[in-house]
Amino acid sequence: MRLKDKVAIITGAGSGFGRGTALVFAREGARVVVADRDGPAAHATAEAIREAGGEATATTVDVTDPKGVEALVAETAARYGRIDVLHNNAGVPMPFTPLEDVSLEQWETIFRVNVTGVFLGCRAVIPVMKRQGGGVILNTASTAAVRPRPGLAPYNASKGAVAVLTRTLALELAPYRIRVNAINPVAGDTPMLRGFIGAGEGEAYEAGRRRFAESVPLGRLATPEDVAYAALYLCSDEAALVTGVLLDVDGGRDV
Ligand SMILES: NC(=O)c1ccc[n+]([C@@H]2O[C@H](COP(=O)([O-])OP(=O)(O)OC[C@H]3O[C@@H](n4cnc5c(N)ncnc54)[C@H](O)[C@@H]3O)[C@@H](O)[C@H]2O)c1
Repeated sequence: MRLKDKVAIITGAGSGFGRGTALVFAREGARVVVADRDGPAAHATAEAIREAGGEATATTVDVTDPKGVEALVAETAARYGRIDVLHNNAGVPMPFTPLEDVSLEQWETIFRVNVTGVFLGCRAVIPVMKRQGGGVILNTASTAAVRPRPGLAPYNASKGAVAVLTRTLALELAPYRIRVNAINPVAGDTPMLRGFIGAGEGEAYEAGRRRFAESVPLGRLATPEDVAYAALYLCSDEAALVTGVLLDVDGGRDV
């Protein structure tokens, strides 16, 4: 088992990539704290883990709420005595919108979740990791940070910020043996895709989905398992010398 007895908080683990990563981490021996603002979804992931014989607790938290994030970290540290991994994965999408039509509210919503949420998670967990002599922070950025698609400026910029925050913290926290990395998934086969395509069921959604898949050299979307196994490596001791990396899980999209 590659994460035996490690304590891992995963935000946004009620759905998509986060849920897939929570299941794989638990199978590899981690004690997983499934955190999501969608409480029933968080509980469903934790229940699936327990049914498979793993260990998980669910907690309802909005990553934009400083007090909620601090409580998540404090309660996890009190329960398990340590936090080995914080995976800042929660994020929100947007429909394709020319920049001149982006409202300030839309811009701020994207940044509040995708950037401020990561900042708050890091800020809360760093003192715990410093005290215990190390740890791993893993952020979910995106290929959007490297090869942006036109029409998604706020989302792309938010993921660019996550990428630079990741590299900055890798240096800032290296003296404390805290590793900080990010994953850049390409468009994923998750509920979020609908938020980018902006179309309901039916042909319009299928056509949008096909366009995304065709933009990937390997010809398909990222699955939760694709992302989970990259996260597993980066959060395991096998990656002990790996920090400041933005790992593309993108079928060649960023080449
Ligand atoms: N799906 C894609 O195409 C894609 C591509 C690249 C990167 N990403 C990134 O991957 C991450 C996961 O995306 P996904 O595709 O699994 O999406 P998803 O919509 O399936 O899951 C996201 C989860 O995050 C939770 N969440 C959203 N805002 C939250 C908040 N404020 N506080 C707590 N939880 C919150 C949602 O409730 C949901 O369960 C995101 O950061 C996303 O930006 C997604």
